[in-house]
Amino acid sequence: MQQFAEEFLQSPKLAEVRYDVRGPIAREAVRLERAGHRITRLNIGNPAPFGFQAPEQILQHMIKTLPTAQGYSDSQGIYSARVAVAQYYQARGLRDASPEDVWLGNGVSELISMVLTALLAPEDEILIPAPDYPLWTGATKLAGGRAVHYICDEHNRWWPDPEEIESKVTDRTKALVLINPNNPTGAVYPREILVAMADICRRHNLMLFADEIYENIIFDGAEMINAATVADDVLTVTFSGLSKTWRVAGFRSGWIYVSGPRHRAKNYIEGLNLLMNMRMCANVPAQHAIQAALGGYQSIEELILPGGRLYEQSRTAHRLLAEIEGVTVEKADGALYLFPRLDPEIYPIADDEKFVIDLLRQKKILLSHGRAFNWEDTQHLRLVTLPSVEDLETAIAEIADFLTEYRDAASR
Ligand SMILES: Cc1ncc(COP(=O)(O)O)c(C=O)c1O
Repeated sequence: MQQFAEEFLQSPKLAEVRYDVRGPIAREAVRLERAGHRITRLNIGNPAPFGFQAPEQILQHMIKTLPTAQGYSDSQGIYSARVAVAQYYQARGLRDASPEDVWLGNGVSELISMVLTALLAPEDEILIPAPDYPLWTGATKLAGGRAVHYICDEHNRWWPDPEEIESKVTDRTKALVLINPNNPTGAVYPREILVAMADICRRHNLMLFADEIYENIIFDGAEMINAATVADDVLTVTFSGLSKTWRVAGFRSGWIYVSGPRHRAKNYIEGLNLLMNMRMCANVPAQHAIQAALGGYQSIEELILPGGRLYEQSRTAHRLLAEIEGVTVEKADGALYLFPRLDPEIYPIADDEKFVIDLLRQKKILLSHGRAFNWEDTQHLRLVTLPSVEDLETAIAEIADFLTEYRDAASR
């Protein structure tokens, strides 16, 4: 008789790891598309499919450098690009920034994983915002650590409360993550909060991880302050890259800049270099894009002003959502998202993932549910403000219809 071999199982390391923004809901969208439906995707911050073009200077430079980009590079990244990143931070007030303190990666995503893997012993803790960009929580768990969430306050512009953050520090806490401007809330943090966060790191000997990938997407004069500028005596890792400001998410090109007391981090940096070496290097053609992106005319500046696409889309989506009965939503000071709340008295939602799947099936609109961002209640949705104003108007009208039907069904 034929013996059936046992099933091949995934690693138990993955048991707690979630990345729902690309999970079951996105799979259902693919199924519907294969069945011939047109889905409006408001779930992923990927500028290109919405008609955002990469700046010409980036493409030209990549084409010109392609023939010389065939070999592996230095695992830290090509020197000219690291100089460009260092100069970018010098121009932002970090005068000591040096190419030696810059590492290039295949997007910020890869660097988040490496920075955490190099740091964490089992059960070490990382302080992460809730709601978060869920890769931070997933990558912490995958690296064997514990994600401890601090709450960003919806009633106070989605800003975190430094006292609450500090109350969550234990003797296992290794680092504090901040995401500014924030995905998914659109918050931009004022100086006093950044200073207070740096102060917590200083007093408890934590590293500060500043995910600033949206730093150039700022509306109505909100002030973007790089955390490293208020934390010169705290070991700070600043993350950014080309995916959003320069609209080339598919190139997978990002960097970290390490500042503060590096002399106390020699062993850690040795570990980080080991991981960098093990993956050889970041994609070399996309490393060449960095120098071209960071210098010269910055087309993002037009997109974020009144009349510019990113500005108008964010403001239109905000206005239309806020007009729906029982929906409250904070205006975004930056980034590409809104994180509206549905009043539970009007829309009692037991399972927000099911709610989003029902919306998808009925209206062919794909959003993300709040719990995918490690948010605690089931009353939030995240939507991406990348589609054109017209597409957002149509989509939000459909969402409003769905909510009316949902409310009527709930009150019956
Ligand atoms: C806050 C935040 N950090 C990092 C990333 C990942 O960016 P990258 O494309 O550079 O991997 C994203 C992508 O959406 C993000 O929202």
